[in-house]
Amino acid sequence: MKTLIVCLVFLFISQTQGLNPKCNTQDHGSTLQVFHIYSPCSPFKPSKPLSWEDDMLLTLAKDQVRLQYLSSLVVAKKSVVPVASGRQILQSPTYIVMARIGTPPQTMLMAMDTSNDAAWIPCNGCHGCSSKVFNTAKSSTFKTLGCHAPQCKQVQNPSCGGSACVFNMTYGSSSIAANLSRDTITLAADPIPSYVFGCLQKITGRSVPQQGLMGLGRGRLSLLSQTQSLYKSTFSYCLPSFRSPKFSGSLRLGPTGQPLRIKYTPLLKNPRRPSLYFVKLIGIRVGRRIVDIPPKALAFNPSTGAGTIFDSGTVFTRLVKPAYVAVRNEFRRRVKVANVTSLGGFDTCYTVPIVAPTITFMFAGMNVTLPQENLLIHSTAGSITCLAMASAPDNVNSVLNVIANMQQQNLRVLFDVPNSRLGVARERCT
Ligand SMILES: *[C@@H]1O[C@H](CO)[C@@H](O)[C@H](O)[C@H]1NC(C)=O
Ligand SMILES: *[C@@H]1O[C@H](CO)[C@@H](O)[C@H](O)[C@H]1NC(C)=O
Ligand SMILES: *[C@@H]1O[C@H](CO)[C@@H](O)[C@H](O)[C@H]1NC(C)=O
Ligand SMILES: *[C@@H]1O[C@H](CO)[C@@H](O)[C@H](O)[C@H]1NC(C)=O
Repeated sequence: MKTLIVCLVFLFISQTQGLNPKCNTQDHGSTLQVFHIYSPCSPFKPSKPLSWEDDMLLTLAKDQVRLQYLSSLVVAKKSVVPVASGRQILQSPTYIVMARIGTPPQTMLMAMDTSNDAAWIPCNGCHGCSSKVFNTAKSSTFKTLGCHAPQCKQVQNPSCGGSACVFNMTYGSSSIAANLSRDTITLAADPIPSYVFGCLQKITGRSVPQQGLMGLGRGRLSLLSQTQSLYKSTFSYCLPSFRSPKFSGSLRLGPTGQPLRIKYTPLLKNPRRPSLYFVKLIGIRVGRRIVDIPPKALAFNPSTGAGTIFDSGTVFTRLVKPAYVAVRNEFRRRVKVANVTSLGGFDTCYTVPIVAPTITFMFAGMNVTLPQENLLIHSTAGSITCLAMASAPDNVNSVLNVIANMQQQNLRVLFDVPNSRLGVARERCT
């Protein structure tokens, strides 16, 4: 009987696409657990795992889509080639947190995205969303916002659907249509009343995270802007390695409990793209040597969109070609193994064990030396090891360097917007 109940409970949970019950420990205070989408806790874990090689190739392909999307955000004159790949690429951001929406609360596992402002949640009646939606009819606190609501002016391309404020936008290779709405959203133990978000009514393409997106950017209508008095535009995360068996990291909202011993670099503002977290990357060291990178490859330039961002949604760090080539050449020189092979977009792979040099990102005021586990990926069988970075596509839109989530694993990254700084400290994210 007990087993039956356990089975039923498990069935129920897996059907409603919640966290694996073994992982469903409570979030406390203002700290949420962060799960990798492939973690054993995640309902989005593929039921039939891909081979390691296929998985890496797919991840790189998704990154490519995201990179084009991020570039399309920053580049003034858009000449971004739309991504027309044969198969559709599922390109959701990599880390999820649990949010409870409405009264009584309905649980959603939302993807964290530091490069977007808005939050969107799939709602009942949505065309193209997966089965798990927020049922607005069951929430006593839910409201759609009218066309004349002041927040309606803050979304891109708003229009009036009847009297409701509706908006369309693109995300990655997808497009969405949503009703601007509000409801209570509870993050860890903090209820946030009248939180404004997009209630998804239609999506096309497969880039949209299944249970919604939580934008952690700093622009208008972002979580930071809406919780100004509660969280003071401050948060940090520690992203767990997706290969570690203890799968959860944390997202800590607000100034309380943030690390005191942490190195900082200034956050830069790009007026064209106020939501992105730009920093000043001034050089890259491989071992002890600072590699020779043309200054233009690292320069911050708000009018072209060029510069370096921290992003939680890209997996492997991408550097513009001249920067990447300089780093890779020095890395290869130091590894001293002649037979370099490639794997898809990774061009520095080895089929014998290697001793890798360290890589240090030198930001204004802060050097971050990556632990080995953030630098190399190893195939499951251990037969191939690659430098886990790649060159950005070499075209006119290629102006962004993206410090991606694999390179941020097991670090605490603190976004301190009021003081315009980003901090990094070593931490085991378990
Ligand atoms: C969204 O707005 C449309 C009208 O534009 C309305 O028909 C629909 O019911 C709304 N959906 C929700 C979930 O409020
Ligand atoms: C937004 O998308 C919806 C659904 O695809 C479509 O019916 C509507 O015409 C679009 N509105 C605008 C302003 O593009
Ligand atoms: C280099 O590696 C490739 C791929 O593993 C292998 O086929 C080839 O024999 C190697 N060549 C040498 C000279 O070791
Ligand atoms: C970063 O490393 C470089 C080169 O090793 C050094 O000159 C610089 O002072 C370091 N910066 C900080 C902030 O420690």
